[in-house]
Amino acid sequence: MLDYRPTHKNHQLTKEDIGKTVTLSGWVHRARDHGGLIFVDLRDRFGLTQAVFDPEKNLKLHSRAEKLRSEWVITLQGTVVSRAEGMSNPKLPTGEIEVEVHEMEVLSKSKTPPISISDAKVEAGDEVRLKYRYLDIRRGRIANNLILRHKAQLAARNFLDKQEYLEITTPIMAKSTPETGARDYLVPSRVYPGSFFALPQSPQIYKQLLMLSGMHRYFQIAQCFRDEDLRSDRQPEFTQVDIEMSFATPEELMALTENLVKEIFLTCKGIEIKAPFQRLTYEDCMKRYGTDKPDTRFGMEIAIIDDIASRSTFSVFKEQIESEGTVRGICVKGGADISRKSIDDYTKFVGQLGIRGLAWMKYQEEGLSSSIVKFFSEEQQQQLIDRTGAEKGDLIFMIADEKSNTLQALDHLRRKLARDRDLIPKNVYEPLWVTDFPLFHWNKEEQIIESEHHPFTSPHFEDLSLLDSDPLKVRSLGYDLVLHGHEIGGGSQRIHDNNLQTKIFEILQLTPEEVKRRFGFFLDALSFGTPPHLGIALGLDRLMMILCDTENIRDVIAFPKTQKAADLMSSSPSEVAKSQLDLLKLSIEVPDE
Ligand code: AMO
Repeated sequence: MLDYRPTHKNHQLTKEDIGKTVTLSGWVHRARDHGGLIFVDLRDRFGLTQAVFDPEKNLKLHSRAEKLRSEWVITLQGTVVSRAEGMSNPKLPTGEIEVEVHEMEVLSKSKTPPISISDAKVEAGDEVRLKYRYLDIRRGRIANNLILRHKAQLAARNFLDKQEYLEITTPIMAKSTPETGARDYLVPSRVYPGSFFALPQSPQIYKQLLMLSGMHRYFQIAQCFRDEDLRSDRQPEFTQVDIEMSFATPEELMALTENLVKEIFLTCKGIEIKAPFQRLTYEDCMKRYGTDKPDTRFGMEIAIIDDIASRSTFSVFKEQIESEGTVRGICVKGGADISRKSIDDYTKFVGQLGIRGLAWMKYQEEGLSSSIVKFFSEEQQQQLIDRTGAEKGDLIFMIADEKSNTLQALDHLRRKLARDRDLIPKNVYEPLWVTDFPLFHWNKEEQIIESEHHPFTSPHFEDLSLLDSDPLKVRSLGYDLVLHGHEIGGGSQRIHDNNLQTKIFEILQLTPEEVKRRFGFFLDALSFGTPPHLGIALGLDRLMMILCDTENIRDVIAFPKTQKAADLMSSSPSEVAKSQLDLLKLSIEVPDE
């Protein structure tokens, strides 16, 4: 067998190497027969080198080369020569040379791949790409994302190491740590039948315990697991850059995070992000954008038009105001050219979010026009123009409904309009802090009060007196980091007082037994001298989506799950042998389809 250890990688050889004898290994990217000469593009993760088999020099080798097929793995020895006049390829670093092959060996053959590898422009369906993920990675785009991800992780590690943060691994087989809105993945114990570990939704409790241990500054590039409804920026298994610090303030934490994010962007993309980042309170953020994770790259902020609506004679608006709803609108720059048909489509779009109607007015030369303009006096029309900031050539969309529905619909609508009308500028990276979240929210479906973030988040010190009288009004010392409409991080000042923590559990209506069972060890720990501490976790996958310029989180994860939380490649989750269940003393009841 030939010694297949390459002397060079496939992007390395240039004119400087002409005359050298080299060994190259890799995959047959393409093989072409050009009137006797056979050209093979040999590929590894670094690039391509052209190898040439000349029948006049070695007929036997040439006839073996005729049999080569795409994706076979080969190794070859040859001499670096200059490409013939006019044949160089300026797109390749190796484009001026080729390797005249003296010896070649096939290391392994390949079946015809189910997706095109040499031509990544040939689209392949999501399912087949996931089923053959290792081939999809070979196509290059995902591989490049993984390389960038490696750089980002390394940049984060180096940066935090320099600031005296220690990377400490916390358990994957753990006790349930709650994060809002998600369920646990459970791991049954063989040794204690009927008992389970939970995969961590985050290392939250452990990192707080490490502060109690006196570790002072912790970080971890941590795998987290959440059984929740999936979206294009959510995976059941994902990665956080998780950070915790003692004896510090939110200002220090925010500055550290800003410098970390800056470092990652600089290392990965050469982009200088400006700091300090903008800050918005939750209340302002919801008012202006209808969401706590706004895309701020384009304007189109939401205007409140309750007062104008209530003075108009438009009954749809007036009735909403009378029943404590709201009327809010957005101005679409240059939107007067939007057709009736498109307006109908936008009406259907908000309709899917439960909104019954989408009111609109175009601001043209002769003033506002639409079928509802007649319900507004001239003065009110001018007020609408001023309030929404409309100029001639613009369109105003308005929604009247219950407040949270209205905000949700306008948030979706403004993002859709920005996409449809190409209003999102490229290369704008301006992260935003959202602060002063409510500590709790009311879960309507289950009729319970829940933590907005997690139950260890400290109430705002100014609002402590409201904990008893009006808990839903209490603000937290939590903060989210938002970029391009994605929540890329979240954290908070923690409660370091055992009594306050107990009180929060009471407000969450956890019974003392439940608290003891779920968090007894943690409350106990808090009673042994707890430093004030705080932290944050950045969603590495979401950050990578932005750095890799993709809207799909799967593109930045080597082996992701589908929208239905399954792995198509290994067909998991999958059934296990009865003997395994018996060992665990588990029995399965699958309901009839
Ligand atoms: P939080 O739940 O806000 O906070 O999570 C932190 C960040 O993790 C990312 N993230 C996700 N990314 C992909 N898929 C998911 N399913 C997913 N869920 C969350 C987001 C989010 O901002 N323990 C706290 C942090 C702390 O308080 O220090 C926590 O986990 O980018």
